[in-house]
Amino acid sequence: MSMAPGLESPVSPGACLHSRRTIVGDLDPAWDVPKGQHLLIISRDQSRLTHGFHRYPAKFFPELPRWAIARYSRTGETVLDPMAGSGTVNVESLLMGRPSIAVDVDPFARLLTRVKTTPLELQGLAGAREAILASLDEFETAGGFAREDALRHVPTFPYRENWFRPFILEELGGIGKALARVEGTPYRDFFRICLSSIVRAVSNADNHCTRTVVRQRLAKRIVPGMALRLFRRVLDVNLGRMTDFGAVCPLDVGACVLDSGDARALPLADDSVDLAVTSPPYINAVDYPRTHQLEMYLLGLAAPGEPLAEAKRQHIGTEVVRSADYSELHRYGLPALDEQLAELYAIDRRRAYIVYRYFVDMEQNFREVRRTVKPGGRYVVVVGNNLIRGREVPSYAYLMAVAERTGWGVETYFASEVIRHYIKVPRKERINTDWVLVLRR
Ligand SMILES: C[S@@+](CC[C@H](N)C(=O)[O-])C[C@H]1O[C@@H](n2cnc3c(N)ncnc32)[C@H](O)[C@@H]1O
Repeated sequence: MSMAPGLESPVSPGACLHSRRTIVGDLDPAWDVPKGQHLLIISRDQSRLTHGFHRYPAKFFPELPRWAIARYSRTGETVLDPMAGSGTVNVESLLMGRPSIAVDVDPFARLLTRVKTTPLELQGLAGAREAILASLDEFETAGGFAREDALRHVPTFPYRENWFRPFILEELGGIGKALARVEGTPYRDFFRICLSSIVRAVSNADNHCTRTVVRQRLAKRIVPGMALRLFRRVLDVNLGRMTDFGAVCPLDVGACVLDSGDARALPLADDSVDLAVTSPPYINAVDYPRTHQLEMYLLGLAAPGEPLAEAKRQHIGTEVVRSADYSELHRYGLPALDEQLAELYAIDRRRAYIVYRYFVDMEQNFREVRRTVKPGGRYVVVVGNNLIRGREVPSYAYLMAVAERTGWGVETYFASEVIRHYIKVPRKERINTDWVLVLRR
């Protein structure tokens, strides 16, 4: 096995071998990006069409998957994202006439991807919106009893009263009651995502932290009427986005969001996919179940008694591990990675195991995607490096070696600098550079 390119270089991982090039908007699919090139892609499209429906940590800016899809697939060919998140790859595939498949362990990600990739009939959607607005008007003019009664429409979940002010809970109830009017229609989930998109803003939790936490010193300003006002506004904005999306979305192509699935065991046939594109989670950086816990509770996606830890365990990069797992040092079998694991183990056994586990899980994913991608097909993986206990883990370089180990050829790789994150991660752990790995079966 030849060493992954990032590992054979004497330059420290992440160092710039080429001067950085700035690209505004789309990357030309015909351009052979030089190996190791650093690009700063300034996105013009982050909120375009349904992309703007919801925040999602470490979401792609659409230009990157669009480049991969245009360069490595043809119209009508099938694209897979095995860790689809908010479905950016699937939206872009759809717009480019490629049927696609989305897999994600997170039920919220699956709902969001489904809504973002399903064009709706506009007259029916406008009618559903009118029914919801009428219900909200009734709620606003109703007296105290009706407001309290609306609370029946807010699911109960742990510490509900700590997460939301009493008047916001009533308003969320009013919205929940209004949504009951579109129950059983094809528009229901669109409005549920509208509701979800305002939940963090009206909660007591910090708007900008990946973890859902209340910070007293933040003194967040939340006023009566805020949930209703934001919800009304988002209905208008998202209706406009859906209208624009419907106008450009081909109707003879679909995006299939699997009801369940794991990137390490894909329920897909061998050689059934032409191209796969994904961005795996960062190691130990974004806790997706915790990030979306309020949204999940309000949408009824998480059972009240269900411990978050169970959901977290399924996530690649999870920090939920058993102490028995790290009672001894695990070696992965790559000298540079093993050296780093041993160093980490000396100061933090648990984190050493988390890092080891990440590469084991990613190896499984590489094998699975290789099984499903047709011979000659590509797997484009966009991955950031990680800072663990103050040490940089050059995940992209290790992953190239893991890819070769699993039978992929590393065709090329380059860096894409990230200039904006929707949700901030702790300052020290902020990830500035993503690496784009193009693997060929
Ligand atoms: C960085 S996010 C993907 C973001 C996505 N590219 C986008 O544009 O929104 C990584 C995703 O991997 C998912 N994930 C983590 N472990 C997984 C697993 N075992 N199988 C499938 N998906 C997984 C997480 O739920 C999360 O949505």
